[in-house]
Amino acid sequence: MVNTKVTLSGWELDNPVIPASGTFNFGKEFADFYDINMLGTFSFKGTTREPRFGNPTPRIAETPMGMINSVGLQNPGIHAVIEHELPELKKIFNKKVIANISGYSVEEYVYCCQLIDKEEQVGIIEVNVSCPNVHGGGMAFGTDPKNVYEVTKAVKAVTTKPVYVKLSPNVTDIVEIAKAAEAGGADGISLINTLLGMRIDLKTKKPVIANKMGGFSGPAIFPVALRMVYQVAHAVNIPVIGMGGVSSAEDVIEMMMAGATAVQVGAANLVNPYACKEIIEDLPRVMEKYGIKDLNDIIGIA
Ligand code: FUM
Repeated sequence: MVNTKVTLSGWELDNPVIPASGTFNFGKEFADFYDINMLGTFSFKGTTREPRFGNPTPRIAETPMGMINSVGLQNPGIHAVIEHELPELKKIFNKKVIANISGYSVEEYVYCCQLIDKEEQVGIIEVNVSCPNVHGGGMAFGTDPKNVYEVTKAVKAVTTKPVYVKLSPNVTDIVEIAKAAEAGGADGISLINTLLGMRIDLKTKKPVIANKMGGFSGPAIFPVALRMVYQVAHAVNIPVIGMGGVSSAEDVIEMMMAGATAVQVGAANLVNPYACKEIIEDLPRVMEKYGIKDLNDIIGIA
């Protein structure tokens, strides 16, 4: 019998496997495939103050071992999430959820976080300063340590729940950004969001994606994500949720050895809707194979 339970800021999860924001919507689509209560938890779609239709299509390009998306933060807006999505979710999910909040200004992050903080279904607020697909918001915040500090501090001033800041890998020094979030009062760090990438269609001679560029994710980025998780986990004194190309129980264990307390699974959900279920079911076997009795024993062991 192995122990897969992990704890994030005092919140005990049955296992460390968490579908990543933007790959699990608000849960109900996946509940048609399996009982999503088996998940550690999940992070819901990046939510802004106003509803957003998202970017023009095509928004997706395939790559070897991955994909590029430019969804553009399509979401129903914070008020619809609170009034409709969370009550719907309550019918099918009996755990707390991670609320991924995106924005275009410090005021917008503050507005949304203050509202979502009041929802008892929310366990952690994930402040997304890393979406590469919108202009003037998202990643524009996450690539400047001063902005990261400012937005974290402002959100912390109006919230009571743990605040995790989700970082962009599209920076020179990820440790500097993580430390800015920690200095601003973050309770944890989530990383990495997608890498900025593009594809060109040889027939049309134009970018595949209407917005030209988008966020590159999938197994191809796993070594980059692992490296950044390792660097950040060794530099800060707050928990790290690792993500980026995770698609197997072995990847989850590797991320935890790099320093992650929990692990998000993103693009894999889009390839195989059962990905997280299969990873969770396979975790005890892989733990036994490598002589791991308790996942907590391997966090940061590398
Ligand atoms: O385009 C998007 O909605 C992506 C969001 C993100 O990467 O955070």
